[in-house]
Amino acid sequence: MRTLVVNGTVVNADGRTDADVVVVGESIEAVVPRTAGGIVPSEGDTVIDATGCLVVPGGVDAHVHMQLDTGAETSSDTFETGTIAAAHGGTTTIVDFAEQRAGGSVPESFEKRLAEAADSVVDWSLHQVLGGVNDQALVDARALVEREGVASIKLFMAYPGRLYSDDGQMLRALQMCADTGMLAMVHAENGLAIDVLIAQAIAAGNTTPEWHSKTRPPELEAEAVHRAAVLARVAGNAPLYIVHLSSSHALREVVEARGRGTNIFAETCPQYLHLSLEEHLAQGWPGGAAYICSTPLRSRAEGHHADLWEGLRADELAVVSTDHCPFCLREQKIVHGLSFDKVPNGIGGVEHRMDLVHQGVVGGMISLERWVEVCSAAPARLFGLPRKGAIAPGMDADVVVYDPAKQHVLGAASHHMNLDHSAYEGMQVPGAVRTVMSRGEVIVDGGRFLGRTGRGRYLRRSVSDAVR
Ligand code: URP
Ligand code: ZN
Ligand code: ZN
Repeated sequence: MRTLVVNGTVVNADGRTDADVVVVGESIEAVVPRTAGGIVPSEGDTVIDATGCLVVPGGVDAHVHMQLDTGAETSSDTFETGTIAAAHGGTTTIVDFAEQRAGGSVPESFEKRLAEAADSVVDWSLHQVLGGVNDQALVDARALVEREGVASIKLFMAYPGRLYSDDGQMLRALQMCADTGMLAMVHAENGLAIDVLIAQAIAAGNTTPEWHSKTRPPELEAEAVHRAAVLARVAGNAPLYIVHLSSSHALREVVEARGRGTNIFAETCPQYLHLSLEEHLAQGWPGGAAYICSTPLRSRAEGHHADLWEGLRADELAVVSTDHCPFCLREQKIVHGLSFDKVPNGIGGVEHRMDLVHQGVVGGMISLERWVEVCSAAPARLFGLPRKGAIAPGMDADVVVYDPAKQHVLGAASHHMNLDHSAYEGMQVPGAVRTVMSRGEVIVDGGRFLGRTGRGRYLRRSVSDAVR
């Protein structure tokens, strides 16, 4: 049985062609340019007409937190609801995190997360958080590559007393990455200095949501990026990936570190491209609480947003992930007290990444190819997913038919995330997902979900040549 996606424009990271796509079983069998005659359907073929549409590889969101237990709250999307939302937005692969905490066991945390994620409706994989770097954790993390196909760890320079690694722990973990080729994802903020600023703000009575950003200044993000880059070099040029980069200052550090030969990559997220301190976080209670996430939203007037779009265009930023970490506003964000430090950190957005980054194409900041690169091809390449991220023979048939002209409005009434609000409420966007295939199966069509709970497959990953 073949499925043919005909009459569309196939967009990959390296170019676009008017071509028809032949899917057999779970894989793409052929991409036939229409200048070469296209493909003539045979009896029994299923035909998807993509006239006027783009045909792009399914999105790969390399940074999400489904049902993340922070101690105070659990993020509101389960693996089932969150991946259904992802599918509606054209994302067909997610990578979440197994979280080892100080004193905890790496293998136990991994096994627990493996079981939790089994309800996913799209393909999925896991990074391993090391929240308590010690001899045993390093031995166990190293073993994950071969045993479980985990090719990346995550370290925190923020959140002292919770997930924080000091410089010695960072160095030891980075040495392990230099040795194995595992990619070290780093939450780069100077957590110790931030905690001082938070205590001072609260003592002065400055507790409204905007103070979340004011106590996490861009300089303390940039300082941590710089320090992580130095430590990665000293460790033997460990592959380093800065998560949720939010500021011009931090971006400059990435560019300079690369100039010095550091093996460094960085992602940003849609919230840092579209939302701001002035317009969103500074709206007071309760609405401002929706926008509390770390790293924080930055001031548009300071130019961070324009710099991040330019960084994406120029390949200074390699990836856009969502850092999807939703908490309901009424029942989770504001119930622990009206002080910014009491609000669970995170924004929900897994459903909207493709649309929100597509706005960069609409606005002339990036090309269609770059859109595909940062949303799909680059995360697949960097995180060791060789069958994802391109419309090409032999790849998994994760195929999105995207209508670039269709207008729609983002908001809580229409989204599929298990979330009582939307960070993008009322935003009108040109461009919408029409049909989504995951390994050859149509799982979303015309806004209807056609997949099944648990159909997503765990993806074992190997260390990527692209980061060695
Ligand atoms: O605010 C955020 N980003 N919450 C999720 C955890 C993290 O730091 O990535
Ligand atoms: Zn983080
Ligand atoms: Zn995160």
